[in-house]
Amino acid sequence: MNEQVTPVPLMELTSGVYAFKALALATDLELFTDLADGRTVTAAGFAEKHGLQLRPAELLLTACTALGLLRLEAGGMYRNTPMSEEFLVKGKAYYFGGWITVVDRHEYPAYLKLADSLRGNHPTTWDPKRQESLFAPDDPVMTEHFWEGMHALSAYTARLLAGALDFSKIGRLLDVGGGGAAFDIELCRRWPHLKATVFDLSFVCDLTRPRVAAAALEERIAFAVGDFFTDPLPAGHDAVLLSNILHDWGEDDVQKIIVACADALPTGGLVLICESFVADDKQGPPLAALMSLNMLVETWGKNYTAAEYSGWLRAAGLEPEGVTPFDGLGANGVLVARKH
Ligand SMILES: C[S@@+](CC[C@H](N)C(=O)[O-])C[C@H]1O[C@@H](n2cnc3c(N)ncnc32)[C@H](O)[C@@H]1O
Repeated sequence: MNEQVTPVPLMELTSGVYAFKALALATDLELFTDLADGRTVTAAGFAEKHGLQLRPAELLLTACTALGLLRLEAGGMYRNTPMSEEFLVKGKAYYFGGWITVVDRHEYPAYLKLADSLRGNHPTTWDPKRQESLFAPDDPVMTEHFWEGMHALSAYTARLLAGALDFSKIGRLLDVGGGGAAFDIELCRRWPHLKATVFDLSFVCDLTRPRVAAAALEERIAFAVGDFFTDPLPAGHDAVLLSNILHDWGEDDVQKIIVACADALPTGGLVLICESFVADDKQGPPLAALMSLNMLVETWGKNYTAAEYSGWLRAAGLEPEGVTPFDGLGANGVLVARKH
């Protein structure tokens, strides 16, 4: 046996499923929401509230504590950690639970069929024979989960983008596939001069309008209904944002979307590609690589490298200006390219 290596990392990898299911169940039971604002609970209190026996109740609380989701204090009192308080309490601006629900209800069952995706090179979270695309509103429950999940990933990521890039010279932004408007809302809040247009499918614009109204940004965020494969993109913008769009599609479609964006921009206009970029050497980072595998079960796309995007941008008459990295959820950076 090679004494230089141990199988412990493999044990840690396999326990990922236990960790995720503990997080998902605790979130589903609204444990962290119940503990908001400094409230505490004992294992007996948690068991009583949910009609559980003490043993399973304590096991779940211990797992959550070991995972950094709860803190156990004197007297057997459990309370939220700062991370749980900020991101796992329902109603908070950057509540992450929406994404946990998507993974638990929608993706987790699909991973039982990962080998089918691998062998057949097709998604398994939805049936391409029966549904036109991942985004078709065929299942209202799934549609609601999807948009809550998307918001959970995008609102926090958009906050980082708003701080990472200088938008002072961008007056009008076209958010292509901007459904949910999470990016437009965050960017408009951070940059008061900015106006944005969400371009998306009709039903997606309809479900996004109330979010913009709730943010009181109807004056600054407009909507343009269309299909980016068949309709021209609206002109009159200084920059186009593509956030978590291109990873949904195969290479031919990605190039079509980039060309459509270039066509809609004036000379000097910018394309902002906000994605989880896989490193050019394709050796990581793990989150981007795993999200890329996730694109196999969800879509026809993958997480491309900045080098791949740069080639397609140049072919469309745009000069890449580099990636600004950040530690986001749905994206790990933004690639900026300028039309010449
Ligand atoms: C993964 S979501 C990203 C949403 C948003 N950009 C974000 O980052 O939060 C993909 C978006 O592309 C939109 N979309 C998909 N196909 C489209 C098409 N053919 N034309 C316009 N929008 C489309 C979907 O409706 C959805 O809003």
